[in-house]
Amino acid sequence: MTTITAQPRWSVPGPRPLPILGRPAMVLRFARDSIGVSRSLFQTYGSVVSLTAGGGTNFYSPLPNCPGTVLTYGPEYVRQVTSQHEIYYKYPLSGRLYSKRNDSTRTEPLKHFAAGLFGVNSLTHRQHRQLLMPAFHKQRINSYGDDIVVITRSLLEQLPIGKPTDIADVMRLLSLRIATKTLFGCDIGEEGGKTAKTLQQAFTLEGSVGVSLLPFDLPGLPYHHLLNLMAQLDNEMRVLIQRKRASGTNDGDVLSMLIQARDAESGVSLTEDELLGHVGAIFAAGHETSANALTWTLFLLSQHPEVTADLLDELQSVLHGEAPTVEQLQQLPLLERVLKESMRVLTPVPWNGRVTSQPTELGSYTLPSGTEVLVNIYQTHHMPEVYPEPERFHPKRWEGFEPTMFEYNPFSAGSRICIGAGFAMLEIKIVLAMLLQKYRLQYLSQQPVERSGFIVMTPKHGMPMILHNQDRQFAEGVGGVRGNVREMVHLPA
Ligand code: HEM
Repeated sequence: MTTITAQPRWSVPGPRPLPILGRPAMVLRFARDSIGVSRSLFQTYGSVVSLTAGGGTNFYSPLPNCPGTVLTYGPEYVRQVTSQHEIYYKYPLSGRLYSKRNDSTRTEPLKHFAAGLFGVNSLTHRQHRQLLMPAFHKQRINSYGDDIVVITRSLLEQLPIGKPTDIADVMRLLSLRIATKTLFGCDIGEEGGKTAKTLQQAFTLEGSVGVSLLPFDLPGLPYHHLLNLMAQLDNEMRVLIQRKRASGTNDGDVLSMLIQARDAESGVSLTEDELLGHVGAIFAAGHETSANALTWTLFLLSQHPEVTADLLDELQSVLHGEAPTVEQLQQLPLLERVLKESMRVLTPVPWNGRVTSQPTELGSYTLPSGTEVLVNIYQTHHMPEVYPEPERFHPKRWEGFEPTMFEYNPFSAGSRICIGAGFAMLEIKIVLAMLLQKYRLQYLSQQPVERSGFIVMTPKHGMPMILHNQDRQFAEGVGGVRGNVREMVHLPA
């Protein structure tokens, strides 16, 4: 670990800000296409680059006077950034929003909304993570398996056969229902659904460019709408928490577990504000990510008929058309490899943000305190030195291949590694196993497949497909894909 004390001069190379439009123009470009912008900067300047030369953008850091915004990739830099927790801090919301949290009573929900684990560092992070861990222990996660099966079955039965369907929408709804059930429990029925929808709307707005660029509480502006939603959310969540507290029962859902969690030494439990933050953050982190991992995997399978045929053989020989048990998931090695390869090649969360809490060195550069550092997971997953033919979707590469956690990190690495990784793998595997045994998905090339999304990579125009009862006609719908997805993965002509 290398640290230095004086505030150094900015030296990391990068493009000059555009005349008149300045740095915000680059932030907009990055927000629209973080993968494309990063790749072109890495090609021009190397593996440690500035988003704009000579100054920061404050698009992630809430601290005043951000001296620079650095993008980096590669196992060594992933290791340095994700394992030096006292140097690389994490912040919950985009810089401008977080710094507005003390503006008025209207902005109070910003203090805890989406803060949760994302918004704490150092000792507080360790303590809170410890309190949250029981809800994510292997045994606990496995107990959610039955809920996942029941919800998946009911949704699959309602899907229209033979008609164009946006699979991205279906996966979003499915993961939303699973998250609602496992987070809030079944006893709250409709209210859980309502809260989940408000949360979803708020998170979509929170990540929107309109809110970042015009954070003014004036009717008609998206920021005003966001604050309204957050006030509503606050009320709904407080009612839920108070009701669960009063009943004193543990319904087995995450919220019940968190209400009952106590620090082993001090016996201290989470306050209501902390609970609001944690549940919001877990919900935000947990459902868009899984939904998109599922959508991209289904897309890749639709374009790789031999892999899909082999996978279906494996699923049917072990499961015989039934939903998998947790034990049976261990007997499905190809399912595991398909998922790993899908999250490598079309990484659901392409980058990870931090802010330096003190001057430090990264590569041959000295970063001042307050520097925003974005570690590019996607680009690390596409390094030919680690993954020969990186743009090839090739699940077999995982046979006997075990990259380090800094070479392969769809869930990040270090002590902030995704707390829901086990949950996500369980959910995605169960859904894929059930869906693929029941249906064949035929890709429809009506729209180009373009990446979009600021934090989670989503297909910009959805993912239209036709569902057929599983008939193994995997060649149908292969080819004809247009759009910038072709820059990320080799696809048939
Ligand atoms: C395919 C699905 C998922 C992917 C790709 C993913 C990815 C990530 C990544 C890259 C991070 C950032 C870690 C860092 O800052 O170093 C993260 C953090 C986090 N994730 Fe996930 N995630 C997924 C699913 C989930 C699920 C299902 C949950 C909860 C049910 C969840 C909860 C969290 C939380 C609470 C954090 C913050 C951890 C901390 O700061 O200590 N994630 N995730």
